[in-house]
Amino acid sequence: MSKAIYPGSFDPVTNGHVNIIERAARIFDGVVVAVATNSQKTGMFDVGERMEMLKACVGSVPGVEVDSFEGLLVDYARRREATIVIRGLRAVSDFEYEFQMAHMNHQLHPMLETVFMVTGTTEFYISSQLVKEVARLGGSVDELVPAFVRAELKRKIDG
Ligand code: PNS
Repeated sequence: MSKAIYPGSFDPVTNGHVNIIERAARIFDGVVVAVATNSQKTGMFDVGERMEMLKACVGSVPGVEVDSFEGLLVDYARRREATIVIRGLRAVSDFEYEFQMAHMNHQLHPMLETVFMVTGTTEFYISSQLVKEVARLGGSVDELVPAFVRAELKRKIDG
């Protein structure tokens, strides 16, 4: 049974994340999409809202579960009995940080393997950060996020 965790901030989930989750669900027996709770880092959406968006977008994909965690990813992986961490790679610029994180996690939990998946051809330029900026400044995010997220962004920005 190969259970994988796909951790992230997901503030908010984008089409790039959805692409990775759908492809990962075809490879692994189970994929836990895990929203990291970081009290030092406040985002546009709280963890409950991020989970709600993820559930709306990928909750019906077979084998996919949405959850959240606090503290170290390696401790969460132990609790969930998962031995694989999935991370998406968009560009070479992602590599250094991801490489460091994979090694750190491996040092803390030698049985935990990080599997990198390249982002879909039509989503490689999308980031949650840019999506929020474009939406805040009135640009269209129609091609960047699922419809549910688009509505949530509008609700948040319009107040
Ligand atoms: O979507 P992000 O912001 O790139 O995700 C980063 C995340 C949440 C995967 C990473 O910050 C993380 O694993 N946080 C949990 C705390 C932890 O384990 N930190 C040490 C990582 S080596």
